[in-house]
Amino acid sequence: MSDLLSKFRLIIGALLFLVFAFGALPIAAQQPTSVNPQASAVKEQQLFQELNRISGRCTLPDQKACTIEQPAGRDWRHFHEVTLRWIGGLAVLGTVAVLVAFYLWRGMVRIESGRSGRTIVRFNGFERFVHWMTATCFIILAISGLNITFGRPLLLPLVGPESFTAWSQWAKYAHNYLSFPFTLGVFLIFIMWIAGNIPNRVDVEWLKRGGGIVGHDHPPAYRFNAGQKMIYWIVVLGGAAVAITGYVLMFPFYGTDIASMQAAQITHAVVAVLFVAAMIGHIYIGTIGMEGAFEAMGSGTVDLNWAKEHHNLWLEEERARTGPNERQRQPAATPAE
Ligand code: HEM
Repeated sequence: MSDLLSKFRLIIGALLFLVFAFGALPIAAQQPTSVNPQASAVKEQQLFQELNRISGRCTLPDQKACTIEQPAGRDWRHFHEVTLRWIGGLAVLGTVAVLVAFYLWRGMVRIESGRSGRTIVRFNGFERFVHWMTATCFIILAISGLNITFGRPLLLPLVGPESFTAWSQWAKYAHNYLSFPFTLGVFLIFIMWIAGNIPNRVDVEWLKRGGGIVGHDHPPAYRFNAGQKMIYWIVVLGGAAVAITGYVLMFPFYGTDIASMQAAQITHAVVAVLFVAAMIGHIYIGTIGMEGAFEAMGSGTVDLNWAKEHHNLWLEEERARTGPNERQRQPAATPAE
């Protein structure tokens, strides 16, 4: 009897062993046979497609650094390295090309009645100081900013890595620090000239008549014509946009996440390159595009005939306000005989 019992136990034990042995097989099959520290079995593309990102755990204090790749990052890199360079290149070179063609066709807009030799004050010292401070900051901000966009493909191969690094570092300091006087300048321009830059019906007429730039017409205008008003609003709104987005970039992740940082960068860069294009147009008209215009911001005075041809309503207002206060231009010094 006890012999039978021990045989029965043996059979039950063997059966149980078989059940556990086979039951464990699928689990064992799931275990890796060897550990591959290179993770070469899993291709980057597979991970990217399955999880939409490559991220993991890391010991860095900034946990955002543990995300190595993500779709929005790739889109942003494409924008920065391809799309932005096209937008910037077309905007800047396109504007230059149009202006060169326009100058060859139209030439300088002359004071048609010639210079009267008498001048009237157009901008006071403070206005000119604010204008030139903002303009100087703008030019340095534009050059140092465009270095971030175009420096690597265009300048680096020409000057080599060491010079490019040194220049880029100084350019970056300039971009950061000059942002403050630039912002102040844009704010002062906004306050100083807002009264003369509200659009009105005279502007519609001015635009319909091509501003006198295309033909030889002299449509009436107050202190600022429709073209100058456009420049004013580009400076005020464009300046505000680059300032706000620029400070978001300068102080990253203060109340912003990676998506809003990317949005700020894209807005900053696109507004900036269009702003540069608009300012090239402004510089053209203020220098070789129109006779007598530069003096307004240079010495602060303009020739009376220039004022009559381009800003007749302003001239009338000034005369009504202060009486005829034009000055005879100082004759150029003649050498002793
Ligand atoms: C308050 C004014 C401004 C501030 C605070 C500011 C700030 C910044 C910052 C922090 C960056 C990123 C730099 C980097 O990636 O290391 C940048 C880039 C840039 N900025 Fe400005 N900026 C200002 C005005 C301007 C102006 C006026 C222009 C041009 C007219 C300009 C053009 C650019 C350009 C082209 C870039 C490079 C965009 C890119 O390729 O990523 N910025 N700016």
